[in-house]
Amino acid sequence: MSYPLHRPRRLRLTKPIRDLVAETTVSPDHLILPIFVKEGGKPEEIPAMPGQYRWPVGDELVKFVSKALDLGVRSILLFGYVSSELKDEEARYSYNPNGVVQKAVRLLRREFGSELVIFTDVCICNYTVHGHCGIPSKIERRRIAGYIDNDSTLKIIAKMAVSHAEAGADFVAPSGMMDGMVAAIREALDKEGYTDVGIMSYAVKYASGFYGPFREALESAPRFGDRRSYQMDPRNAYEALREARLDVEEGADILMVKPALAYLDVIRLVKTHYPDYPLAAYNVSGEYSMVKAAAEKGWIDEKLVTLEIVTAIRRAGADIVITYHALDIARWLKEGYNPF
Ligand code: PBG
Repeated sequence: MSYPLHRPRRLRLTKPIRDLVAETTVSPDHLILPIFVKEGGKPEEIPAMPGQYRWPVGDELVKFVSKALDLGVRSILLFGYVSSELKDEEARYSYNPNGVVQKAVRLLRREFGSELVIFTDVCICNYTVHGHCGIPSKIERRRIAGYIDNDSTLKIIAKMAVSHAEAGADFVAPSGMMDGMVAAIREALDKEGYTDVGIMSYAVKYASGFYGPFREALESAPRFGDRRSYQMDPRNAYEALREARLDVEEGADILMVKPALAYLDVIRLVKTHYPDYPLAAYNVSGEYSMVKAAAEKGWIDEKLVTLEIVTAIRRAGADIVITYHALDIARWLKEGYNPF
């Protein structure tokens, strides 16, 4: 019997020692808070997403963002809630210079200057009557098969991106998984002189059941068919590398994997192959709502589970976590909460 040279042994695992050797950290610096904005009225809580609201563009939104900044959450991702009268087949409202997102960006930029990092969602599903992220084919037979006219969609999202840049966005975040969306947006931004506006691309986005509560929040569920012809198949991991490669070649500044929790292996894979690109992961609505619902029932410890989830997403390789829990986490950390 011989002992291996370096026999495993127990260190004195006091709290400061555990913190000293911890491989992963979570801080508000790495979090992006998604915010839903709408035209007027009062803030409305989203039933399937307890604690999340649709904010009218105005004082209350400013107060809310100022609270985020006080807690150290300095990055936000804006989504526009649009009532059905403003939706059409071709998402014309989406690039209106006085649209709800454009107005919100202008207001927040004026209030907070460069203290606040503003990302905007660039996709047409919440601006169209059909609820798809691309323009469905005009040919009925193809419509049934879920055929999306990829290239006509690019023109619209390029205009939308320019209108957000014009309003003052730091980054536009195309989320529709249209082929060539990054190149089309980069070209349009550069042409209009917005070379300093970045692109965070939803490079790897799965056709997922975890988006349910979000679609309720924006009333953006597809009216027919589903998104499987343009979002990824949950059974595929290596395909993510092809999607990431195309977006890198087209000029993406930040890559994203979405959803996060059921795709930690994909986050790790993309980070391993593209270590020199910032990687974001989207801890999506369904992931958030499951935690909230179980916590409400008293079945889980909300703080512990939330911290564990976001830590796991960071451990898998995400530099940035987009999460509806951002303010809760920032508040708990500020209070000195550290469960590990
Ligand atoms: C749509 C979009 C979706 C989300 C962000 N942008 C939903 C979808 O593809 O149906 C989901 C975000 C979430 O669930 O939190 N372009």
